[in-house]
Amino acid sequence: MNAAARPLTVPDLAAAREAGRRLVMLTAYDAGFARACDAGGIDLVLVGDSLGMVVQGHASTLPVTVDDMVYHTRCVARGLRRALLVADLPFQADATPERALDAATRLLQAGAGMAKLEGAGPKLEAIRFLAEREIPVCAHLGLTPQSVLRMGGFKVQGREEAAAAALRADALAVAEAGASLLVLEGVPSALARAITAASPVPTIGIGAGPDCDGQVLVLHDFLGLDSGHRRPKFVKDFLAGGGSVAGAVEAYVAAVRDGSFPDAAHSYE
Ligand code: KIV
Repeated sequence: MNAAARPLTVPDLAAAREAGRRLVMLTAYDAGFARACDAGGIDLVLVGDSLGMVVQGHASTLPVTVDDMVYHTRCVARGLRRALLVADLPFQADATPERALDAATRLLQAGAGMAKLEGAGPKLEAIRFLAEREIPVCAHLGLTPQSVLRMGGFKVQGREEAAAAALRADALAVAEAGASLLVLEGVPSALARAITAASPVPTIGIGAGPDCDGQVLVLHDFLGLDSGHRRPKFVKDFLAGGGSVAGAVEAYVAAVRDGSFPDAAHSYE
């Protein structure tokens, strides 16, 4: 598809996978960076609840509210013409299907084209509820930052066989419930490869190795900014090699598309 042609749609995601064209996703929280993403050919822009850490300076994503997400989604939407805008349901906004519908409706009315939520199990009901009500859903499995208290930190998930099997089953379950896209975060490359091979919907990796259908990075990591937190292994500073924000976006898009990012140095065994 011609990158300048028209706004990307949800069916285009499956078509890209079918065509073997990797999807490139980056987070943004304001109109200026959204414009830079769009101009550089980023396919999906995520207003992540990571904004709680990289914009608001919290130690986790838990303090982020639906109002925060709506505000930043509106800002980003004003900067986009082509990229599909995905916005996170923040902590507990998806605790019940009804709450998820209220929050996701606000995000779509603010300009998002898809709502993302973390987890499977009790979240399957919310995924199904949204999907059946014309709200495209992106699921998020593996290292789910909203589970930081239970996980005891931001830790790679699915290393033991039982945990890997549970993740493989969850990936099928979220797609069956109606998710159109699946983010896999912080899982060993071999597990992400197996999940991607079995998944009915495209997968987007972050710390999940090179074999997902696309990749996502958090903007501040991609720019090499000190977030005040330990730098995960998968993070790459594209600004260092790109020379400018536009150059960094161009380098990132090219590296994801040709499969050179992430390499083994930016992946987990
Ligand atoms: O909030 C976020 O930025 C995310 C990405 C890490 C995928 O969920």
